[in-house]
Amino acid sequence: MYRTFFLALSRNETFRRLLLACPVTRKVVKHFVAGDSWDEARDGIASLLDKGLKATVDYLGPQTRTAGQAAATVSAYIGFLDQIRDEGWAGDVEVSVTLSSLGLLLRDGEELATSNAAAIAAKAREVGTTLTLDMEDITTTSKAIRIVNTLRKDYPEVGCLLQANLKRTEADCRALDAPESRIRVSKGAYRPPAQATYHDKHDVDLSYVRCLKTLMEGEGLPMVATHDPVMIEIAQELAAHTNRGLKDFEFQMLYGVRVVEQERLADLGHTVRIYVPFGENWYPYFIRRLAERPANLGFFFRGLLSSR
Ligand code: FDA
Repeated sequence: MYRTFFLALSRNETFRRLLLACPVTRKVVKHFVAGDSWDEARDGIASLLDKGLKATVDYLGPQTRTAGQAAATVSAYIGFLDQIRDEGWAGDVEVSVTLSSLGLLLRDGEELATSNAAAIAAKAREVGTTLTLDMEDITTTSKAIRIVNTLRKDYPEVGCLLQANLKRTEADCRALDAPESRIRVSKGAYRPPAQATYHDKHDVDLSYVRCLKTLMEGEGLPMVATHDPVMIEIAQELAAHTNRGLKDFEFQMLYGVRVVEQERLADLGHTVRIYVPFGENWYPYFIRRLAERPANLGFFFRGLLSSR
Protein backbone atom coordinates (compact mmCIF):
# COMPACT_ATOMS: atom_id res chain seq x y z
CA MET A 1 0.00 0.00 0.00
CA TYR A 2 2.82 2.38 1.05
CA ARG A 3 4.81 1.43 -2.06
CA THR A 4 1.77 1.72 -4.33
CA PHE A 5 1.20 5.24 -3.03
CA PHE A 6 4.76 6.22 -3.87
CA LEU A 7 4.65 4.54 -7.26
CA ALA A 8 1.69 6.82 -8.05
CA LEU A 9 3.57 9.78 -6.58
CA SER A 10 6.61 9.07 -8.77
CA ARG A 11 4.33 9.66 -11.78
CA ASN A 12 2.67 12.75 -10.30
CA GLU A 13 3.76 15.83 -12.20
CA THR A 14 2.12 18.26 -9.75
CA PHE A 15 4.09 16.92 -6.77
CA ARG A 16 7.30 17.06 -8.80
CA ARG A 17 6.64 20.71 -9.69
CA LEU A 18 5.85 21.49 -6.05
CA LEU A 19 9.19 20.05 -4.93
CA LEU A 20 10.99 22.01 -7.64
CA ALA A 21 9.24 25.29 -6.92
CA CYS A 22 9.73 25.36 -3.16
CA PRO A 23 13.23 26.23 -1.85
CA VAL A 24 12.55 24.40 1.43
CA THR A 25 11.71 21.10 -0.26
CA ARG A 26 14.71 21.48 -2.57
CA LYS A 27 16.87 21.60 0.57
CA VAL A 28 15.43 18.28 1.77
CA VAL A 29 15.92 16.75 -1.69
CA LYS A 30 19.59 17.84 -1.52
CA HIS A 31 20.05 15.56 1.47
CA PHE A 32 19.70 12.56 -0.88
CA VAL A 33 20.70 14.02 -4.28
CA ALA A 34 23.99 15.92 -4.60
CA GLY A 35 22.74 18.43 -7.19
CA ASP A 36 21.29 19.03 -10.63
CA SER A 37 24.68 19.24 -12.31
CA TRP A 38 28.29 18.18 -11.91
CA ASP A 39 29.16 21.66 -10.61
CA GLU A 40 26.57 21.33 -7.85
CA ALA A 41 27.55 17.74 -7.04
CA ARG A 42 31.24 18.65 -6.88
CA ASP A 43 31.03 20.16 -3.38
CA GLY A 44 29.14 17.13 -2.04
CA ILE A 45 31.79 14.76 -3.45
CA ALA A 46 34.64 16.92 -2.10
CA SER A 47 33.19 16.90 1.39
CA LEU A 48 32.89 13.09 1.34
CA LEU A 49 36.53 12.79 0.30
CA ASP A 50 37.52 15.21 3.10
CA LYS A 51 35.97 12.75 5.56
CA GLY A 52 38.06 9.86 4.22
CA LEU A 53 35.17 8.37 2.23
CA LYS A 54 35.24 7.32 -1.44
CA ALA A 55 32.50 7.87 -4.01
CA THR A 56 30.80 6.39 -7.02
CA VAL A 57 28.91 8.99 -9.02
CA ASP A 58 25.70 8.24 -10.86
CA TYR A 59 24.26 10.66 -13.40
CA LEU A 60 20.46 10.99 -13.31
CA GLY A 61 20.02 12.30 -16.84
CA PRO A 62 17.04 12.57 -19.18
CA GLN A 63 15.28 9.31 -20.07
CA THR A 64 16.87 7.50 -23.01
CA ARG A 65 14.37 7.03 -25.84
CA THR A 66 16.73 7.10 -28.82
CA ALA A 67 20.24 5.94 -29.70
CA GLY A 68 21.20 9.62 -29.92
CA GLN A 69 20.15 10.17 -26.30
CA ALA A 70 22.18 7.11 -25.26
CA ALA A 71 25.20 8.60 -27.05
CA ALA A 72 24.62 11.88 -25.17
CA THR A 73 24.73 9.95 -21.88
CA VAL A 74 28.07 8.41 -22.91
CA SER A 75 29.43 11.89 -23.72
CA ALA A 76 28.22 13.17 -20.35
CA TYR A 77 30.07 10.35 -18.55
CA ILE A 78 33.23 10.98 -20.58
CA GLY A 79 33.03 14.61 -19.43
CA PHE A 80 32.56 13.59 -15.75
CA LEU A 81 35.54 11.25 -16.02
CA ASP A 82 37.66 14.13 -17.36
CA GLN A 83 36.55 16.17 -14.36
CA ILE A 84 37.44 13.32 -11.99
CA ARG A 85 40.93 13.21 -13.51
CA ASP A 86 41.34 17.01 -13.45
CA GLU A 87 40.32 17.14 -9.78
CA GLY A 88 42.93 14.44 -8.98
CA TRP A 89 40.15 12.16 -7.68
CA ALA A 90 40.71 9.06 -9.85
CA GLY A 91 41.94 6.97 -6.91
CA ASP A 92 38.82 7.71 -4.88
CA VAL A 93 35.93 8.37 -7.26
CA GLU A 94 34.48 5.96 -9.82
CA VAL A 95 31.29 6.04 -11.92
CA SER A 96 28.08 4.00 -11.87
CA VAL A 97 25.60 3.82 -14.74
CA THR A 98 22.27 2.19 -15.56
CA LEU A 99 22.22 0.16 -18.77
CA SER A 100 18.82 1.60 -19.71
CA SER A 101 20.41 5.06 -19.91
CA LEU A 102 22.89 3.55 -22.40
CA GLY A 103 20.09 2.25 -24.63
CA LEU A 104 19.38 -1.27 -23.29
CA LEU A 105 15.61 -0.93 -23.73
CA LEU A 106 15.81 0.24 -27.36
CA ARG A 107 15.75 -1.92 -30.49
CA ASP A 108 19.05 -3.90 -30.63
CA GLY A 109 19.54 -2.44 -27.18
CA GLU A 110 21.86 -5.14 -25.84
CA GLU A 111 24.44 -4.48 -28.54
CA LEU A 112 24.06 -0.71 -28.20
CA ALA A 113 24.34 -0.71 -24.41
CA THR A 114 27.38 -3.01 -24.59
CA SER A 115 29.30 -0.71 -26.93
CA ASN A 116 28.25 2.39 -24.97
CA ALA A 117 29.33 0.82 -21.67
CA ALA A 118 32.62 -0.25 -23.29
CA ALA A 119 33.30 3.39 -24.27
CA ILE A 120 32.79 4.49 -20.65
CA ALA A 121 34.88 1.59 -19.31
CA ALA A 122 37.72 2.52 -21.70
CA LYS A 123 37.64 6.15 -20.57
CA ALA A 124 37.47 5.11 -16.89
CA ARG A 125 40.56 2.97 -17.37
CA GLU A 126 42.40 5.79 -19.18
CA VAL A 127 41.62 8.10 -16.26
CA GLY A 128 42.67 5.48 -13.68
CA THR A 129 39.30 4.58 -12.22
CA THR A 130 36.47 2.08 -12.76
CA LEU A 131 32.90 1.68 -13.98
CA THR A 132 30.19 -0.23 -12.10
CA LEU A 133 26.86 -1.17 -13.70
CA ASP A 134 23.66 -0.59 -11.73
CA MET A 135 20.97 -3.28 -11.92
CA GLU A 136 17.37 -2.50 -12.85
CA ASP A 137 14.22 -4.65 -12.88
CA ILE A 138 14.26 -8.40 -13.36
CA THR A 139 13.41 -8.23 -17.07
CA THR A 140 16.91 -6.83 -17.65
CA THR A 141 18.97 -9.09 -15.33
CA SER A 142 20.05 -11.75 -17.83
CA LYS A 143 20.93 -9.13 -20.46
CA ALA A 144 22.93 -7.12 -17.91
CA ILE A 145 24.90 -10.18 -16.87
CA ARG A 146 25.65 -11.08 -20.49
CA ILE A 147 26.87 -7.50 -21.00
CA VAL A 148 29.13 -7.73 -17.93
CA ASN A 149 30.64 -10.96 -19.24
CA THR A 150 31.26 -9.39 -22.67
CA LEU A 151 32.82 -6.24 -21.20
CA ARG A 152 35.04 -8.24 -18.88
CA LYS A 153 36.91 -9.75 -21.85
CA ASP A 154 38.56 -6.35 -22.33
CA TYR A 155 37.78 -4.69 -18.99
CA PRO A 156 37.82 -7.29 -16.20
CA GLU A 157 37.63 -4.47 -13.67
CA VAL A 158 34.08 -3.49 -14.71
CA GLY A 159 31.84 -4.03 -11.68
CA CYS A 160 28.15 -4.83 -11.45
CA LEU A 161 25.40 -4.88 -8.89
CA LEU A 162 23.51 -8.06 -8.03
CA GLN A 163 20.21 -8.01 -6.12
CA ALA A 164 19.80 -10.46 -3.24
CA ASN A 165 16.00 -10.42 -3.55
CA LEU A 166 16.33 -12.49 -6.75
CA LYS A 167 16.53 -16.25 -6.23
CA ARG A 168 19.14 -16.55 -8.98
CA THR A 169 21.62 -14.16 -7.36
CA GLU A 170 23.53 -16.55 -5.13
CA ALA A 171 24.40 -18.60 -8.25
CA ASP A 172 25.23 -15.39 -10.16
CA CYS A 173 27.64 -14.37 -7.38
CA ARG A 174 29.42 -17.69 -7.75
CA ALA A 175 29.48 -17.53 -11.56
CA LEU A 176 30.73 -13.94 -11.75
CA ASP A 177 33.40 -14.23 -9.08
CA ALA A 178 36.93 -14.03 -10.51
CA PRO A 179 40.30 -12.61 -9.37
CA GLU A 180 39.60 -9.08 -10.67
CA SER A 181 35.82 -9.10 -10.24
CA ARG A 182 34.02 -6.30 -8.41
CA ILE A 183 30.54 -7.39 -7.35
CA ARG A 184 28.31 -4.91 -5.51
CA VAL A 185 25.59 -6.79 -3.67
CA SER A 186 22.45 -5.04 -2.43
CA LYS A 187 19.05 -6.29 -1.29
CA GLY A 188 17.35 -4.89 -4.43
CA ALA A 189 15.12 -1.86 -4.86
CA TYR A 190 12.65 -3.44 -7.31
CA ARG A 191 9.79 -5.67 -6.13
CA PRO A 192 8.39 -7.59 -9.11
CA PRO A 193 5.45 -9.93 -8.42
CA ALA A 194 7.29 -12.96 -9.75
CA GLN A 195 8.25 -16.42 -8.60
CA ALA A 196 11.85 -15.54 -9.23
CA THR A 197 12.11 -13.22 -6.23
CA TYR A 198 12.05 -13.42 -2.43
CA HIS A 199 9.31 -11.21 -1.00
CA ASP A 200 9.64 -11.78 2.72
CA LYS A 201 12.26 -9.47 4.30
CA HIS A 202 13.70 -12.35 6.32
CA ASP A 203 14.20 -14.43 3.15
CA VAL A 204 15.87 -11.47 1.42
CA ASP A 205 18.18 -11.04 4.42
CA LEU A 206 19.10 -14.74 4.40
CA SER A 207 19.81 -14.56 0.67
CA TYR A 208 21.95 -11.45 1.25
CA VAL A 209 24.05 -13.34 3.81
CA ARG A 210 24.50 -16.31 1.45
CA CYS A 211 25.61 -13.95 -1.34
CA LEU A 212 28.05 -12.21 1.02
CA LYS A 213 29.47 -15.57 2.10
CA THR A 214 29.97 -16.64 -1.52
CA LEU A 215 31.71 -13.39 -2.40
CA MET A 216 33.86 -13.26 0.74
CA GLU A 217 35.00 -16.85 0.07
CA GLY A 218 35.66 -15.95 -3.57
CA GLU A 219 38.56 -14.27 -5.31
CA GLY A 220 37.18 -10.86 -6.28
CA LEU A 221 36.36 -7.65 -4.42
CA PRO A 222 33.02 -7.87 -2.57
CA MET A 223 31.24 -4.50 -2.39
CA VAL A 224 28.78 -4.66 0.51
CA ALA A 225 26.01 -2.20 -0.41
CA THR A 226 23.67 -1.93 2.57
CA HIS A 227 22.73 0.31 5.49
CA ASP A 228 21.52 -2.62 7.56
CA PRO A 229 23.48 -2.83 10.85
CA VAL A 230 22.99 -6.60 11.03
CA MET A 231 24.32 -7.16 7.50
CA ILE A 232 27.27 -4.84 8.21
CA GLU A 233 28.22 -6.85 11.29
CA ILE A 234 27.85 -10.15 9.44
CA ALA A 235 30.04 -8.83 6.60
CA GLN A 236 32.75 -7.92 9.11
CA GLU A 237 32.56 -11.40 10.67
CA LEU A 238 32.64 -13.16 7.29
CA ALA A 239 35.63 -11.05 6.23
CA ALA A 240 37.51 -12.01 9.39
CA HIS A 241 36.56 -15.66 8.85
CA THR A 242 37.88 -15.66 5.29
CA ASN A 243 41.07 -13.79 6.20
CA ARG A 244 40.15 -10.68 4.27
CA GLY A 245 41.91 -7.53 5.42
CA LEU A 246 40.16 -4.18 5.81
CA LYS A 247 40.98 -3.23 2.20
CA ASP A 248 39.89 -6.57 0.70
CA PHE A 249 36.22 -5.52 0.55
CA GLU A 250 34.22 -2.31 0.55
CA PHE A 251 31.19 -1.03 2.38
CA GLN A 252 28.93 1.09 0.18
CA MET A 253 26.01 3.33 1.15
CA LEU A 254 23.77 5.89 -0.47
CA TYR A 255 24.43 9.62 -0.27
CA GLY A 256 22.69 11.10 2.78
CA VAL A 257 21.81 7.75 4.37
CA ARG A 258 23.34 6.79 7.76
CA VAL A 259 26.06 9.41 7.44
CA VAL A 260 27.33 8.86 11.01
CA GLU A 261 27.71 5.14 10.31
CA GLN A 262 29.57 5.92 7.05
CA GLU A 263 32.18 7.88 9.00
CA ARG A 264 32.32 5.36 11.87
CA LEU A 265 33.21 2.54 9.45
CA ALA A 266 35.80 4.70 7.66
CA ASP A 267 37.34 5.62 11.03
CA LEU A 268 37.71 1.88 11.73
CA GLY A 269 39.84 1.67 8.57
CA HIS A 270 37.25 0.22 6.19
CA THR A 271 36.90 1.43 2.62
CA VAL A 272 33.50 3.14 2.54
CA ARG A 273 32.23 4.25 -0.86
CA ILE A 274 29.22 6.52 -1.15
CA TYR A 275 26.86 6.32 -4.10
CA VAL A 276 26.39 9.95 -5.17
CA PRO A 277 23.43 10.58 -7.50
CA PHE A 278 23.15 13.90 -9.29
CA GLY A 279 21.47 15.28 -12.39
CA GLU A 280 18.37 17.02 -13.60
CA ASN A 281 16.22 13.86 -13.54
CA TRP A 282 16.52 13.37 -9.74
CA TYR A 283 12.78 13.08 -9.04
CA PRO A 284 12.19 9.29 -9.58
CA TYR A 285 15.35 8.50 -7.56
CA PHE A 286 14.20 10.73 -4.70
CA ILE A 287 10.72 9.18 -4.62
CA ARG A 288 12.29 5.66 -4.60
CA ARG A 289 14.23 6.62 -1.46
CA LEU A 290 11.05 7.86 0.23
CA ALA A 291 9.20 4.70 -0.81
CA GLU A 292 11.93 2.43 0.50
CA ARG A 293 11.60 3.46 4.09
CA PRO A 294 8.77 5.17 6.02
CA ALA A 295 11.40 6.86 8.26
CA ASN A 296 12.70 8.74 5.20
CA LEU A 297 9.26 10.27 4.84
CA GLY A 298 9.47 11.38 8.49
CA PHE A 299 12.83 12.94 7.73
CA PHE A 300 11.28 14.70 4.75
CA PHE A 301 8.45 16.26 6.79
CA ARG A 302 10.72 17.10 9.74
CA GLY A 303 12.96 18.92 7.27
CA LEU A 304 10.00 20.89 6.00
CA LEU A 305 8.85 21.87 9.50
CA SER A 306 12.31 22.76 10.85
CA SER A 307 12.92 25.03 7.87
CA ARG A 308 9.87 27.16 8.58
P1 FDA B 1 16.86 -2.29 4.38
O1 FDA B 1 16.02 -1.36 3.58
O2 FDA B 1 16.53 -3.76 4.35
O3 FDA B 1 16.84 -1.84 5.90
C1 FDA B 1 17.47 -2.64 6.90
C2 FDA B 1 17.93 -1.75 8.04
O4 FDA B 1 18.96 -0.87 7.57
C3 FDA B 1 16.87 -0.86 8.62
O5 FDA B 1 16.04 -1.54 9.54
C4 FDA B 1 17.73 0.22 9.28
O6 FDA B 1 18.27 -0.24 10.49
C5 FDA B 1 18.86 0.38 8.26
N1 FDA B 1 18.52 1.42 7.27
C6 FDA B 1 18.13 1.24 6.00
N2 FDA B 1 17.89 2.45 5.40
C7 FDA B 1 18.12 3.38 6.33
C8 FDA B 1 18.01 4.80 6.36
N3 FDA B 1 17.60 5.50 5.30
N4 FDA B 1 18.32 5.45 7.49
C9 FDA B 1 18.70 4.77 8.60
N5 FDA B 1 18.81 3.43 8.64
C10 FDA B 1 18.51 2.74 7.54
N6 FDA B 1 19.15 -1.34 -5.81
C11 FDA B 1 18.89 -1.87 -7.05
O7 FDA B 1 17.88 -2.54 -7.23
N7 FDA B 1 19.77 -1.64 -8.08
C12 FDA B 1 20.92 -0.94 -7.92
O8 FDA B 1 21.71 -0.77 -8.88
C13 FDA B 1 21.22 -0.41 -6.62
N8 FDA B 1 22.38 0.27 -6.39
C14 FDA B 1 22.74 0.55 -5.08
C15 FDA B 1 24.03 1.01 -4.80
C16 FDA B 1 24.41 1.24 -3.48
C17 FDA B 1 25.82 1.69 -3.20
C18 FDA B 1 23.48 1.02 -2.41
C19 FDA B 1 23.86 1.27 -0.97
C20 FDA B 1 22.20 0.58 -2.70
C21 FDA B 1 21.81 0.35 -4.02
N9 FDA B 1 20.53 -0.12 -4.31
C22 FDA B 1 20.29 -0.63 -5.58
C23 FDA B 1 19.43 -0.07 -3.29
C24 FDA B 1 19.35 -1.35 -2.48
O9 FDA B 1 18.97 -2.42 -3.32
C25 FDA B 1 18.34 -1.23 -1.33
O10 FDA B 1 17.07 -0.95 -1.85
C26 FDA B 1 18.68 -0.18 -0.30
O11 FDA B 1 20.06 -0.12 -0.06
C27 FDA B 1 17.97 -0.50 1.03
O12 FDA B 1 18.37 -1.75 1.55
P2 FDA B 1 19.32 -1.91 2.83
O13 FDA B 1 20.12 -3.15 2.68
O14 FDA B 1 20.14 -0.68 2.99
O15 FDA B 1 18.40 -2.02 4.10
